[in-house]
Amino acid sequence: MADSAKPARASWSGKWAFILAAAASAVGLGNMWRFPYLAAKYGGGAFLLVYIVLVVTFGFALMMAESALGRKTGQSAIGAFSAFGKKFAIIGILASAVPFIITPYYALIGGWVTKYMASYLVQPASEIADGAFFGGFILQNAESYVWMLLFIAAVVLIVAFGVKRGIERVNKVLMPALIVMSLAISLFALTLPGALDGLAYYLVPDFSKFSAELVVAAMGQMFFSLSLAMGIMITYGSYFQKDQDLEHSVRRIELFDTGIAILAGLMIIPAAVAVSGSAEEVATHAGPGLMFGVLPQVFTGFGFAANAMGFLFFALVFFAALTSCISLFETLVSIVDDATKKGRTFAIMVCATFVVVMGIIVNLGYNELLSVDLMYSLFGIGEAGNAQLLDFFDFLSNTIMMPLVALLTCIFVGWIIKPKTLIAEVKQSSKFSGEKLFVVMIKYIAPVFVVVILVAYVMNTAGIIAL
Ligand code: ALA
Repeated sequence: MADSAKPARASWSGKWAFILAAAASAVGLGNMWRFPYLAAKYGGGAFLLVYIVLVVTFGFALMMAESALGRKTGQSAIGAFSAFGKKFAIIGILASAVPFIITPYYALIGGWVTKYMASYLVQPASEIADGAFFGGFILQNAESYVWMLLFIAAVVLIVAFGVKRGIERVNKVLMPALIVMSLAISLFALTLPGALDGLAYYLVPDFSKFSAELVVAAMGQMFFSLSLAMGIMITYGSYFQKDQDLEHSVRRIELFDTGIAILAGLMIIPAAVAVSGSAEEVATHAGPGLMFGVLPQVFTGFGFAANAMGFLFFALVFFAALTSCISLFETLVSIVDDATKKGRTFAIMVCATFVVVMGIIVNLGYNELLSVDLMYSLFGIGEAGNAQLLDFFDFLSNTIMMPLVALLTCIFVGWIIKPKTLIAEVKQSSKFSGEKLFVVMIKYIAPVFVVVILVAYVMNTAGIIAL
């Protein structure tokens, strides 16, 4: 892993190379698609508040731990943990399993984004805004497979031909464009009748909405969006130069990623409330389709410019999703490559086949396998027939695997190798102003928090307590 870092170090000035690569991985569908629908579902302001608190405490400590661990060992997840003893490889193996669960469904949503981007080129914006458009496409249409496969093909080709760096350079221009455009759309959405109620719902915390489920959702979202507890930040840390300021970089990445998520919520939630009439209505129905149902309705308000706005917006989201999916896919490739030692081409072929097959299965969950509800049948969550395979895999990664990996990472750093090991690594290149926060979070608060909140959540779901 350390070797593959060398070209990146040579061509980019250290700190910004890390910030840009990590931000390209972090900013993606997690911010634009997942954050707004969770915030809408879990009480708006209450979710936003819990999310921000988690990012600056737990998220900060975990991102520092992962990137310092990567830089110290010069290895990606499995090697980084086993560098301290073979038996610790299991933490790296569990972390590595996460991108295998996420990438297929990520690619499916990437396909939805690609479809919307293309549709704005050839179809009137009013047709795309029609409620039946999304359902027709996802539930009954073989076309959804084609768009997903196109998205996967783009990811695989970019990784196979090694043109990732070019894409990330383009991203430097596209990311600011995405921010400007999201701001413009947010401002426009706020002029819609009823949107100000939505704004209040999103920004003013209503503490009666507070629940164990909300906190679990916010925690899972934090891992997903910051690319934590899935091995990615360890790998990126291993590419980081020994003399560059790790803490400053981590704070920049967090600020950037969280800022874009907040902005995406500002763009989608007030508009969703305006379109559906009330915050309660939005909270009841918010799910993976929220962005695709709401934004096209906002775009029609732009009149003759609706198609151009729609295209531009989905094109920017497409690039954000592409760069994140590239980082997920690269993680898969490096794991398979390390494990099989049969070369990168072989690893790319194995991983591409895996993502295609699993992606098709997840997509079947919206049509031929619509009646399969693993959330209900395996975990007894919700009502039968309410969740699709995508929800199941999303739950498996964000609510089970990532908290587990984060917990094990905290125990490993806090109690086995001890925080001082990583503090020394951070201090090689700069001061560590968040040192106390780091120690207290990693050793005590974060592990206790993960256990308490998951136990509360399980008991709540099982009806043993009401939280
Ligand atoms: N961190 C990536 C995202 O938010 C996976 O999309």
